[in-house]
Amino acid sequence: MSTNNHSKTAPKNNPQTGIRKGLTRYGDTEFSLFLRKAFIKAMGFSDNALDRPIIGITNTFSDFNPCHGNVPQMIEAIKRGVMQAGGMPMVFPTISIHESFAFPTSMYLRNLMALDTEEMMRSQPVDAVVLVGGCDKTIPAQLMAAASLDVPVLSIPTGPMLTTLHQGDRLGACTDCRRYWGKFRAGEIDQAEIDEINGKLAPTTGTCMVMGTASTIACMVEAAGLSLPGTAAAPAVTAERFRLSELTGRRAVELGKTASEGRFSPRTILSPEAMTNALVVLHAIGGSTNALIHFTAIAARLGIKLDLEHFDRLGRDIPVLVDLKPSGSHYMEHLYEDGGLMGVLRELKPHLYLDCLTVSGRTLGEEIDAAKVTKARKVIRIASDPIYPVGGLAVLKGNLAPRGAVIKHSAASPNLLKHRGRAVVFKSLEDLALRVDSPDLDVTADDILVLQNAGPKGAPGMPEAGYLPIPKKLAQAGVKDMVRISDARMSGTAFGTIVLHVAPESAENGPLAIVQDGDMISLDVEKRLLQLELDDAEIQRRIAALEAPAKRLNIPKTGYRHLYQTTVTQADVGCDFDFMVPSAHGVVPLLKGN
Ligand code: FES
Repeated sequence: MSTNNHSKTAPKNNPQTGIRKGLTRYGDTEFSLFLRKAFIKAMGFSDNALDRPIIGITNTFSDFNPCHGNVPQMIEAIKRGVMQAGGMPMVFPTISIHESFAFPTSMYLRNLMALDTEEMMRSQPVDAVVLVGGCDKTIPAQLMAAASLDVPVLSIPTGPMLTTLHQGDRLGACTDCRRYWGKFRAGEIDQAEIDEINGKLAPTTGTCMVMGTASTIACMVEAAGLSLPGTAAAPAVTAERFRLSELTGRRAVELGKTASEGRFSPRTILSPEAMTNALVVLHAIGGSTNALIHFTAIAARLGIKLDLEHFDRLGRDIPVLVDLKPSGSHYMEHLYEDGGLMGVLRELKPHLYLDCLTVSGRTLGEEIDAAKVTKARKVIRIASDPIYPVGGLAVLKGNLAPRGAVIKHSAASPNLLKHRGRAVVFKSLEDLALRVDSPDLDVTADDILVLQNAGPKGAPGMPEAGYLPIPKKLAQAGVKDMVRISDARMSGTAFGTIVLHVAPESAENGPLAIVQDGDMISLDVEKRLLQLELDDAEIQRRIAALEAPAKRLNIPKTGYRHLYQTTVTQADVGCDFDFMVPSAHGVVPLLKGN
């Protein structure tokens, strides 16, 4: 058989597509193509293969990333789909980030992954790209890249893990990691039992199977129309995950062939209306606070300002409809059994922009109508019988957080949502680790724990340390929750009355930096207020007495940490590098009828 047959779909004379795209500069374009072909033929490719639309597939497999353990099998399925549709799949590696294998934090590396992914997509000849992501920061990084570059992409998550049982109790990563760790710290279970649980919390590959950040992002991306219907919830190890991968590969070829029309470019798909649909879903699923930072960053790269107050107003009309941990009781496999995200979107139809085009080629409304209806449902509630009457997240303002702070009130203790207490202040993560369990710590259950210097610049990398542990002596006395305030983030899997993302952060000399032991703080979630009970003059006097931020931070003069700490933005605008954000912002429109 000849290896020089040219495909009917060959884009061979179009310099903007396929193997001819983005030729390496040698000063002679024909020579550049000649050389490129000569090298790729070393891998055994024929001219027939090289003349097809090229579909890039990001390989985010890593031995350090168990959430992506199924990526090799997904890639095989995606390649199969690409070839079925007449395209040429080309797999290329990018940075892969796992939450527990990223020092100092995964957030510190998100922007680096976005840069890497963007430049790899820009510099290699791809007509469309399948973005295989999953673990918390990976899909946001990929979408930030896609938003900046505007090449057609389909996102596909690796999918959630399955659960297992411990003594009849269903458990999974990582709401139950924290629940059982809390029991261990309180002395309710012993070392042998916590060791046994440690081997059960993540029983398969895939992402955390509660409504943590990974599941939240997967749902929001499906709602925004950048992944195919059904891709958010199908568990990582099911046949459905691989069938969806194959379908995604097939669809990517269509996107590649029509790339020049721009119909399916990220900037077209991720319209302000589509982003609003994603935010509606964030409220309705009781999703992760982290998602707000990530979507703010993605929106900013699209020139859209995601206004925190608009997001908060949106939540006052959207009930939490999904009974998943940490806001509810179940897991992603149950959402899958209930029909996945499309089942949730059906209940949310009056709140959604149904005309938004998705990467499937159909509108969101058409996809919802085409999705199978599951009658006997376990976790998806109807609007008249919600898990929580209003959206899962609230945005707080006040003199302690002039640019905002966030609380996941659907996962908080109702009796603490209005609370006044004495501040017990930890100056840093190190200070927290040193003193929180000290028997001498002056703390009661009514106090408010405050953590400083854990923000984007201060930590650096805004660690998921906002879930401050309950001081051991209180935990042992049965205290399960306290109000906690910081400029850090929190895992989407965590539960508690926890105020996060305080902006400006303390390392930037925001008011959080001047809180002292014994100061009184009041939290009123209904009124969206977070107040330090000091008068303005005293606040200004204390801020003026602080050292300049640049001096306190001691930023190195070289390396990635220099780049990060000198350019990362605050939580309310997405923690992106400031040089990646276009200066002119549009505004995400208000929800229909709002
Ligand atoms: Fe990867 Fe939770 S650690 S999704």
